Amino acid sequence: PLPARHAVELPVPAVLRPVRSDAGADYYEITARRATARLLPGHDTEVWGYQGTFPGPTVESRSGRRTVITHRSELPRPTAVHLHGGHTPQDSDGYPLDLVGTGQHDMAGMAGPPGTEGATVLPQREHTYPMAQRAATLWYHDHTMGFTGPQVYRGLAGFHLVRDEEEAALGLPQGPRELPLMIADRSFAADGSFAYPELPGGAPGVPDAYMNGVLGDVVLVNGAPWPLARVDRAWYRLRLLNASNARRLRLALDPQPSGGGALVQIGSDGGLLERPLRHDSVDLAPAERCDVLVDFSRYPAGTRVRLRNRLGDGPAGEVMAFEVGSAAEDGFRLPGKLATVERLDPAKAVNTRTFVFHKGKQHWTVNGQEYRPGRSLAAPRLGQIEVWRFVTDFHHPVHLHLDPFQVLGRAGGGPGGNDAGWKDTVDVLPAQGVEVAVRFTDYAGRFLVHCHNLEHEDMAMMAEFTTTE
Ligand code: C2O
Ligand code: CU
Repeated sequence: PLPARHAVELPVPAVLRPVRSDAGADYYEITARRATARLLPGHDTEVWGYQGTFPGPTVESRSGRRTVITHRSELPRPTAVHLHGGHTPQDSDGYPLDLVGTGQHDMAGMAGPPGTEGATVLPQREHTYPMAQRAATLWYHDHTMGFTGPQVYRGLAGFHLVRDEEEAALGLPQGPRELPLMIADRSFAADGSFAYPELPGGAPGVPDAYMNGVLGDVVLVNGAPWPLARVDRAWYRLRLLNASNARRLRLALDPQPSGGGALVQIGSDGGLLERPLRHDSVDLAPAERCDVLVDFSRYPAGTRVRLRNRLGDGPAGEVMAFEVGSAAEDGFRLPGKLATVERLDPAKAVNTRTFVFHKGKQHWTVNGQEYRPGRSLAAPRLGQIEVWRFVTDFHHPVHLHLDPFQVLGRAGGGPGGNDAGWKDTVDVLPAQGVEVAVRFTDYAGRFLVHCHNLEHEDMAMMAEFTTTE
């Protein structure tokens, strides 16, 4: 039986404190380990979590101030840690073979895709994030070659928020009125453990369960099933993240306040939009973020407002609920202009490249190739604008490391309703092409372009590109 809806209070992940700070940087330590968590009422679940929690602790950085995180792992399998949305040099980017672990692992269990032999497992790795990037909702998660799906499923994901002056000047809702919401579906066995259908070792072919990726029947927000948040009649900032392995979301409030447009989008993957956009619903594919403001004073006190997923049936159609309290003082006025957003001009593009994402029975490929570490499919020059076209046969949320991009159009038309601003992940629909403008900057090295449906990613739907001076 599934747990009751709205029976658990929304948890908010703790903000991690630096172990030390100096003039130039803040230093953090994070250890991934097994722990027991009370995710479902009455049940213990073994999670694999950063600092033993799911979600992991939230890291907060200031734009332009270096953040150094030493990652360790006591897990039964080694892990690679990627900061999703980070503008990060190659050595700190969490390359799928740059693993941390105790060294006591059964490496036979790691015999995954070809190329895994080159993996190095170190007892710890220091990730240096220059944070030369604007305010945005980033997240960190496991990126281990061939095992990202099962390892994120067990809990290896956390928020990393970047703040800056431009954003601070807006006086956005903060403190208890700023809620990071990590939405992720999971299935549980009768004993409360995560039920992830493991791939049978070495079996040829792909189980049908992996075709769409792994879907769960319980929707967790910050690790709690269909939780309830008590809110004031005031503006709130909801930092929405779809951390599901494979489930796509179409989020909407129910009831809608009269007049609609309840979800006021202020930001996307790569931070603030130029001006707010009002939506009745927002689509989020795996790994996408949407930063929205909601004015709960548009609802009478005592209203229970559900956040629903219109793409899900039954329990998968419910996400969480807000219980609107009595009146609250709130001097917030929605600014007409949020930020200055530079536009990448496609007319200045020096190159157009096409990446075809193809799902086969056994071979999931990008441009006909399964992922092979060290094999680069493109060599863009730093500082130059390029147009990248993503073409698919299926739903694939396509993600680029190193730098965000701007969506130029879909299927021959303009951008979609959720394509505004700087993006690092774009939901490419079946048989659609999406064109983006991108400009890689600062760091020469090898980086990844891949499908963020984690089962597709583990089945090698990933490629490398090499940025050059
Ligand atoms: Cu969120 Cu390459 O990953
Ligand atoms: Cu995919």
